[in-house]
Amino acid sequence: MAKVRQVYACAACGAVQSKWMGKCPDCGAWDSLAPELIEPKARTDPRRETESAWSRGRGEPDGTASNPARRAADLDQAGSEQPKRIQSGIDELDRVLGGGFVPGSAVLLGGDPGIGKSTLLLQAAVSLARAGHRALYVSSEESAQQISMRARRVLDGATDTESGGLPQELFMLSETSLARILEQASRVLGEREPVQDQRSPVMVIDSVQMIYKADLDAFPGSLTQLRRCCAELVYFAKATGVCVVLVGHVTKEGLLAGPRLLEHLVDAVLSFEGDRYHAHRIVRAVKNRFGSTLELGLFEMTGHGLRQAPDGASVAALAGSAGRAGTIVCPVLTGSRCLLVEVQALTATGFLGAAKRKSSGLDANRLAMLIAVLEQHAGLRLADRDIFASATAGVRIIEPAADLAVLLAIAGAHHRRTLPPTTAVVGEVGLAGEVRAVPQLESRLIEAARLGYTELIVPKGAERAVKSTPRRGSMELFPVGEIGQAIERLM
Ligand code: TYD
Ligand code: MG
Repeated sequence: MAKVRQVYACAACGAVQSKWMGKCPDCGAWDSLAPELIEPKARTDPRRETESAWSRGRGEPDGTASNPARRAADLDQAGSEQPKRIQSGIDELDRVLGGGFVPGSAVLLGGDPGIGKSTLLLQAAVSLARAGHRALYVSSEESAQQISMRARRVLDGATDTESGGLPQELFMLSETSLARILEQASRVLGEREPVQDQRSPVMVIDSVQMIYKADLDAFPGSLTQLRRCCAELVYFAKATGVCVVLVGHVTKEGLLAGPRLLEHLVDAVLSFEGDRYHAHRIVRAVKNRFGSTLELGLFEMTGHGLRQAPDGASVAALAGSAGRAGTIVCPVLTGSRCLLVEVQALTATGFLGAAKRKSSGLDANRLAMLIAVLEQHAGLRLADRDIFASATAGVRIIEPAADLAVLLAIAGAHHRRTLPPTTAVVGEVGLAGEVRAVPQLESRLIEAARLGYTELIVPKGAERAVKSTPRRGSMELFPVGEIGQAIERLM
């Protein structure tokens, strides 16, 4: 009989060691090795099994000869077909995916427990099924009855009254065994030839952590199981053209649980973020092989599931603390759209030489630089002040165009002043205390005007560039050349 062997797998990178060590020699993570049992004879090729499971369901061999996609091809010819997209009908989600799900791709959705991952994907599945795409929602955590109850609750609140009940093309499965999931998926999704049909099947696995493969001698949730199950599901997607969406749990530190390996296996990694105790939620792409990672999807959790934030809604309005000292609104570009984000700062008594500088949603190095600029060029004494700065509503600002807003938020917090609530600020700050031009000022201006802002503090010279902008409404521009002029506007 083959001997069961004990090994130690790293939770951070997935590397397997034969003995325990304090530090993983592969990735350098400390205290990340956990014991795991492996049975040598269980080491079969996962691809073979998936393939045969799929062929059994379809009644045809999936060999190279019968499948042109398996042969090496000319890059030119291979690229001639645009990947078609499966639109979920939830625009905010489609935008983050780069225009919709891609057939045959694997997407991993991560997020804190209770943030609304299951709700989002169930809504997406309902919406897909309504559009005629076959959708299979596999839950490894809830019973079919619970899913159905949730689906009805979400449907009750749906604004469109086009169909009363649950759509026909939506299938539910409550299962944790990978073999049975793949068997059911082949049965339900494989009846139709996905390649020729306009409508493509989608499978949701909620969550991948609870799925197990019976012939592995490791318990469900262990790294071995997670890795193997994920690899098989990804292979299933590639081999069949079904788009597989996996839900992954998040660890205390906010990283996707399990080895980073999962992130490498899939085509796109989405992260669902937001404050549990607030209604707004953000979906962002951490990795996307078929689109940009700059796009954001905005949602609001209501009593009847997730609702898409109205097109281009201002995050500032969602946060709703405009007009307080230390709060400044800035139009920030995220991918193809402009969001009005509130930047907040707080200064508190600290100790000289040990003052804290903490930021959330903002770049810490950029914050340190802005504090230095304030000290040097605006004469603020901040060396013994603790400074906290954040972008509200969970948005992460990476562009320097928000510099001036952050700087004014700190100065405002220090002097206990703010700008009028209808004023927004945009501009990059240089080390000499000058305010520099920002890209795409026009789209920021239009968005701010649309959301009711009437004054915009802009870098000097920019006012000429946007003079002729139609749709700027009654927006008044205040050009500033250096930070002192902007600070003077605080009242
Ligand atoms: P859920 O989708 O179960 O989260 P996850 O799968 O990420 O763990 O969402 C759980 C939370 O969402 C729960 O705390 C209740 C809330 N919720 C609503 O507020 N309204 C709803 O219609 C639904 C379905 C959930
Ligand atoms: Mg869930």
